[in-house]
Amino acid sequence: MKKRVLVTGGARGIGRAIVEELVRFGYDVVATHYKTDDLVKGAQYLRVDLTDRGELDKFITQVGNREPIDVLVNNAGLWLGKPFEKTAKAELFEQIDLNLAAPTRLTHGLLPLLKKAEAPLVINVSSQAAHPIFPGEAAYSAVKSALSTLSNVLRTELNPLGIRVTTFEPWGVNTYGIKEPSGMVLPSELAKIVRYVIELPGHLQLDTVGISHIKQYRGGYPDWIEK
Ligand SMILES: NC(=O)c1ccc[n+]([C@@H]2O[C@H](COP(=O)([O-])OP(=O)(O)OC[C@H]3O[C@@H](n4cnc5c(N)ncnc54)[C@H](OP(=O)(O)O)[C@@H]3O)[C@@H](O)[C@H]2O)c1
Repeated sequence: MKKRVLVTGGARGIGRAIVEELVRFGYDVVATHYKTDDLVKGAQYLRVDLTDRGELDKFITQVGNREPIDVLVNNAGLWLGKPFEKTAKAELFEQIDLNLAAPTRLTHGLLPLLKKAEAPLVINVSSQAAHPIFPGEAAYSAVKSALSTLSNVLRTELNPLGIRVTTFEPWGVNTYGIKEPSGMVLPSELAKIVRYVIELPGHLQLDTVGISHIKQYRGGYPDWIEK
């Protein structure tokens, strides 16, 4: 029987590409959407605002009453790039609520369901922003590094229960509508690697997956380095 996979933010961007890839390969896919109504055929969708704690809890109960989940893909998230001082209060809370609180609570709330699966797996879509120190990405980098840390520590608690945790830390993925070649990874390319991770034998875990286009901008030489 094909695995049952829950993908958050499955109607747009990277999440949509993951849903398309998994549906194409016959997986039983449940996905969330919020504002996007153009849905992938063959997946079941549930609408939820993941920044709303009440809605999130209702969603967990709704999903929890269904069949077991083999894989949880915490993908939904928003990039914020602007000087910290110019960031609105609502944008700061959206970063924390969507990019960190939601995946943390979803993993926590769906653990009983994951434990029923044969070889459960949690995939957290973090970012390379968890590592570098780029101006304009303070809040985004902070929550992504927290998400990567959450995965690292959870591995120590959940691996003994048979639950695997994989962190994806992509560089730029072209979900921005930039004309190709963009020097970024394509969502469909990333989705193939997600499927690869899902198809690993149950005793294997890729801890952290970094992925970049080799033409990805990695920052220029600083002035003090001889060129
Ligand atoms: N693109 C990149 O370069 C890149 C690089 C590294 C990591 N990532 C990470 O990859 C993940 C996906 O990124 P993306 O580029 O595909 O993002 P995106 O194209 O901006 O899409 C954002 C996704 O988040 C969902 N979402 C936004 N607000 C929501 C809310 N309040 N409740 C529920 N869902 C909400 C959206 O759902 P609706 O459209 O249905 O509202 C959509 O599926 C994120 O975690 C991002 O940080 C992206």
